[in-house]
Amino acid sequence: MNIHDFAKRKRQSVPISMVTCYDAWSAALIAETDIDCVLVGDSLAMVVYGHETTLPVDVDTMAAHTAAVRRGAPGKFVIGDMPFLSYRRGLASAVDSVGALMRAGAQAVKLEGAAGNVELIRHLVESGVPVMGHLGLTPQSVHQLGGFKVQARDEGAVSVLSDHALVLQDAGCFALVLEAVPAAVATEVTKALEIPTIGIGAGSGVDGQVLVLHDLLGVNTAFRPKFVRTWLDGSQLIREALQSYHRDVVEGTFPNGEESYS
Ligand code: KIV
Repeated sequence: MNIHDFAKRKRQSVPISMVTCYDAWSAALIAETDIDCVLVGDSLAMVVYGHETTLPVDVDTMAAHTAAVRRGAPGKFVIGDMPFLSYRRGLASAVDSVGALMRAGAQAVKLEGAAGNVELIRHLVESGVPVMGHLGLTPQSVHQLGGFKVQARDEGAVSVLSDHALVLQDAGCFALVLEAVPAAVATEVTKALEIPTIGIGAGSGVDGQVLVLHDLLGVNTAFRPKFVRTWLDGSQLIREALQSYHRDVVEGTFPNGEESYS
């Protein structure tokens, strides 16, 4: 997949699959699948580091994880997520942050919201950096939104979302994540855009889907919102494996002769 394939897939009505990924070993597994693209999401602040929001993660941390993902999946299209406030301290500072993610191996960056970001997006696109937008529930604004809630529930909010989607397209975004919005709203926004929409909790009328890897693998049992489907009971399987390892150590059956050097 390259940048041109995103628009092509929308034109051809072939949905785009995207998954989050934060490290080299899971990237290597994803690399062996047909999944289209990988997002090094700032959700890693919550999923990997155990924070309650995405706010604590910084550019250096995002760059380190982006580099790990790039090493694990050299052939995948990798999108690096711009962390909280890293693109709101003026153009020069934002460009430095974007540079850090691109040099770490991202082929595109994602940033949240439209208001105040248009000049930066235009500048990045003109500078050769593909930009993915993100509207609806924008987790970096969790305190402004009053929690992780479904967005665009009333006419006014739908109208703002639709306007912002067009503004991001006009600024040069190559794709747009729509998070936690009613399916009918996401479908309408998708129809109004030439660039593909990638939904999470946005129903099936979008041009692609993204899920957090740990959610779809059933590793994160504490987080089971309505929109998550699990394709593996990961936590149960991993727990059983760890328990078996512990048992074999305690019973003295690990390591055996074949697992020891003579
Ligand atoms: O950080 C993230 O993982 C994301 C996706 C949920 C879209 O932004």
